[in-house]
Amino acid sequence: MINFSNNIFKLSTDKTSYWFQITKFGHLEHIYYGAYLPEDQPVEPLLHKRAAELGSCVIYDASDDKYCLDNMCLEWSGIGKGDYRNTPAEIIMPDGTYTADFVYDEHKITDGFDIIRDLPSSYGSKEECKTLEITMHDESNDAGLNLYYTVYEKANVITRRASIANRNKSPMTIRKLMSMNMDIPNDGYRFITFDGGWIKEANKHERKLSYGIQVNSSTTGSSSNRHNPGFLLASESATESTGNVYGFNLVYSGNHYGAVELSNHDLVRIQLGINPYCFEWTLEDCDFKCDECIGGDCGRFETPEAIMSYSDEGFNGLSQNFHNFINNHIVRSDWKNKERPIVINNWEAYFFNFNTEKLLNLAKRAKKLGVEMFVLDDGWFGKRDNDKAGLGDYNVNTKKLPGGLIDLAKKIHKMDMKFGLWFEPEMINEDSKLYRAHPEWALKTPEKKSALGRNQLVLDLCNPDVRDYIVENVTEILDSASIDYVKWDYNRHISDACSPCVKEQGRFFHEYIKGLYDILDRIFTPRPHILLESCSSGGNRFDLGMLCYSPQIWTSDDTDPIERLRIQNGISYLYPLSTMGAHVSEAPHVQTLRDTPIATRFNVAAFGCLGYELDLKFLSSVEQKEVKEQIEFYKQYRKVFQYGRFLRGEQFKDNKVVWHVVDKDSKTGISGFFQTLTTASEGFDRLRFMGLDPEKKYTVKTRPQRVFIKRFGGLVKHILPVSLDPGGLILREANKHYSMNDCIEDYTAYGKSLMSGLMLNNQFEGTNYNENTRLLGDYGSNLYIVDAIDYKNK
Ligand code: GLA
Repeated sequence: MINFSNNIFKLSTDKTSYWFQITKFGHLEHIYYGAYLPEDQPVEPLLHKRAAELGSCVIYDASDDKYCLDNMCLEWSGIGKGDYRNTPAEIIMPDGTYTADFVYDEHKITDGFDIIRDLPSSYGSKEECKTLEITMHDESNDAGLNLYYTVYEKANVITRRASIANRNKSPMTIRKLMSMNMDIPNDGYRFITFDGGWIKEANKHERKLSYGIQVNSSTTGSSSNRHNPGFLLASESATESTGNVYGFNLVYSGNHYGAVELSNHDLVRIQLGINPYCFEWTLEDCDFKCDECIGGDCGRFETPEAIMSYSDEGFNGLSQNFHNFINNHIVRSDWKNKERPIVINNWEAYFFNFNTEKLLNLAKRAKKLGVEMFVLDDGWFGKRDNDKAGLGDYNVNTKKLPGGLIDLAKKIHKMDMKFGLWFEPEMINEDSKLYRAHPEWALKTPEKKSALGRNQLVLDLCNPDVRDYIVENVTEILDSASIDYVKWDYNRHISDACSPCVKEQGRFFHEYIKGLYDILDRIFTPRPHILLESCSSGGNRFDLGMLCYSPQIWTSDDTDPIERLRIQNGISYLYPLSTMGAHVSEAPHVQTLRDTPIATRFNVAAFGCLGYELDLKFLSSVEQKEVKEQIEFYKQYRKVFQYGRFLRGEQFKDNKVVWHVVDKDSKTGISGFFQTLTTASEGFDRLRFMGLDPEKKYTVKTRPQRVFIKRFGGLVKHILPVSLDPGGLILREANKHYSMNDCIEDYTAYGKSLMSGLMLNNQFEGTNYNENTRLLGDYGSNLYIVDAIDYKNK
């Protein structure tokens, strides 16, 4: 809901309120963002006071010696009028100066959300969202700034964006234009970001806000695995389930810039938008009548959309706002809110070394275990036998696949499985037909040799011919071979960031991303049945822009479950489980050499869109049984895993991670209890369930899983009457065919009691193995299924 009276805008969602006012000089002054306030709440107690003239201030207007922009909470600010904080806009104005002072002109409130030209955005029906558009102007320059606020009432999200127009005869050059600016009083905030690199994405880091500017940004050309664009501000005492948390994210896949600044009067300025790094965009003298202007481009610049949410129910409350919002107002296509298929991907099984027979065998084995989709990864085209050649040439390699893709897809479909295919269309190898035909299509700085990343160059997506080539090439394959799923990869950062096709080189990074969106839109919008999973060496482009096209993203090349506990945990603060690709792979793990139980590999991957990525041929018969049961279990609870309410447990010990998913009526839940490194003689474990109905009675039962004999090595002598060589043939064979059942616990309890904590059985500690001992050790885990009794009986 959006109300305006007495110069005050009141934006409300179900649980939050966002208020700001027009000051007597026309600036937009922020009043409040937090828990919902009734409309009749008097504004006076919330206003920032201006009772005294604060020292060392530049006064905006001689008529009021207490009106100093530097000490005000502002929705927007300029340069040159006394606000010395980080500016949301740095523009060389038509008069040649940097001075900009945008003040209120008018506003309008409309139902729904207007699309942004050339950029993806959130969406909602007229009933689901309302948009406030405020027009401001800078008097001396004839420049107009529009601020947009879209309120998603049920989702408790407000989105922000800005656009600027030059109506002057002289050009105006934008060097920085944020999507949002907001100032709030400090509350001892912690600034929380999700950082990392390849195979260690989205590790959560936090630091206390301190005086000055702290920045969360990327300069790689994409949203990056270095710093996800999303970040949080949490009050000092916030926990997973209590306290004030604000969250911010950007619907954008290019270089982003998020900054928080603590000013000398304890105001926190928050900004988010396109990174000003190497950015320059000149808006020409424009009469708004030429062809480009009819679309509104040449004299106008539009920022991507920023999203904001607030919760007084801690990090989990905030995450749930984001999760619901993304599932309902970001993800599109036929796959919106639809259960995602279980995948077998051949990459970690064979890398580049495969042929039709190997693939079909893998698919057959997978089908037997219950897998629903076969994904053919890298290496099926051109001369792609390693990563030095072939990118750009998407003609099938008939040595590996003599019958071609059509034949393979048919065979897979005949097995009653879906068929998916990998592409990396934004890239090119120098050793490719495409490069030989069009070397000028690769990014290159004139007179310099281009820098390689993973032996490849980046195609110039600012060039319309390149975009057309990609669209034609990819769609031809998609349509001919009836492909159900595409993995769209992007495996390096951008270098040599320049193009002959852009008006000024400061436009390059933004034009590149707009080019990518154009391609994705042209390929996938007309083919909504295709499930697109985007990927960038794992989670190097895990952002809301990509999610507008790809309902899920390959979270990380790292499938080691212990690493995934950190990675998926980090991603879960900002994005729902339905968006995270999560696979079970081999152990010891290819990147960490960590040897983890197959049960834990599954238990972690189940909190996402499940897949398998290993050579199933090498699973023993007993491992195959285990995987089959995993898949059956996942199918039974898939909806809860992918779309249930996800709650992170409070981390009470460094070596424990607890996750919960609960369906919307709190009837069924699954909790994961994970142990990273064990300690000798572990203490009692109490599993505190979350999200249940306190009044309902539930059954709780451990998911049955196996413990393999090989885990015990020489220790088997304690349970066998004869002494056997732990590395010998008998035990190795036995391990293939037999396993022990892990301890199963079974209880009945009220939600209230489960949420106060279920006392679990003791862990194994060397002296007393029996069937009631939990065998966790290093990297052990269990899933617990919670079912409401009344519900089951109905
Ligand atoms: C990237 C992806 C992997 C795989 C390889 C193929 O690294 O993240 O999943 O597709 O490329 O080359």
